[in-house]
Amino acid sequence: MADMTWLFASDIHFPNHDKRMLDLWFKVMDYLKPGAIDLLGDIDDADGTGRWAEGTTREGFSKYDPGVVLTGQLLSDIHAKRPKADKRFFDGNHGWHRHVKWLDKNNPQSLVDGIYTPESIYGVAANGFVWHNYLERPTKRYGDIYCHHGVSISQYSAESVRNDIKKFEVSLVRGHSHRQGYYAHTAPIEDRTVRGWEIGHMCVPTGQDYDLSPDWQAGFAYGVVSGDEVFIDLVPVINYRCNIGTKVIEG
Ligand SMILES: [Fe+2]
Ligand SMILES: [Fe+2]
Repeated sequence: MADMTWLFASDIHFPNHDKRMLDLWFKVMDYLKPGAIDLLGDIDDADGTGRWAEGTTREGFSKYDPGVVLTGQLLSDIHAKRPKADKRFFDGNHGWHRHVKWLDKNNPQSLVDGIYTPESIYGVAANGFVWHNYLERPTKRYGDIYCHHGVSISQYSAESVRNDIKKFEVSLVRGHSHRQGYYAHTAPIEDRTVRGWEIGHMCVPTGQDYDLSPDWQAGFAYGVVSGDEVFIDLVPVINYRCNIGTKVIEG
């Protein structure tokens, strides 16, 4: 099999997304022509169903919420450009995971009747994506690499993915921390290395009111699947510019 490129994004937090950064990500997609695309969660911010919104005017759920609509639009835009790619949508702690908990409490009949599902609100399979619930274990993808939104949140870059790797003992690409970092652990006696990446975010930090001074890094990740080996690189976005190898791309 020829080498295949792989593109990741996470923590877009629609409608608190950075539109220009997302445009840059699509330019990278045009450049890489990925055979696999993984969305690693917190794509829909799901503000209205979070516990901070409880009892406020923000509380509530509609499939017309901007975060829901924009998430569906993203899936459709990706599918239009890469119809044949192996596409996965890993839910985050924001997103359907939040909506379903809120609906279970406030409108359980809508769940019994199957009115709201990831498919009905986002159009997951309709846009060629395979869905993974947040509470599922990390899923094995290519080579030794597993994907998940991420569980641990630690204070500094690469610490969160380190903690998840210690928990799961597999190589992992994840989001959730909004930080970018790489961590590896080699056990020579077992001839084994586990590698982990936390890939950053593509939201507007000031749009999130739970942290006044977020230690976050904007960006995403891409990889190359070459036989049994998978090479992953973090892509920091600086002034709406990033590099894929030696190629600099502007948003
Ligand atoms: Fe997030
Ligand atoms: Fe998260």
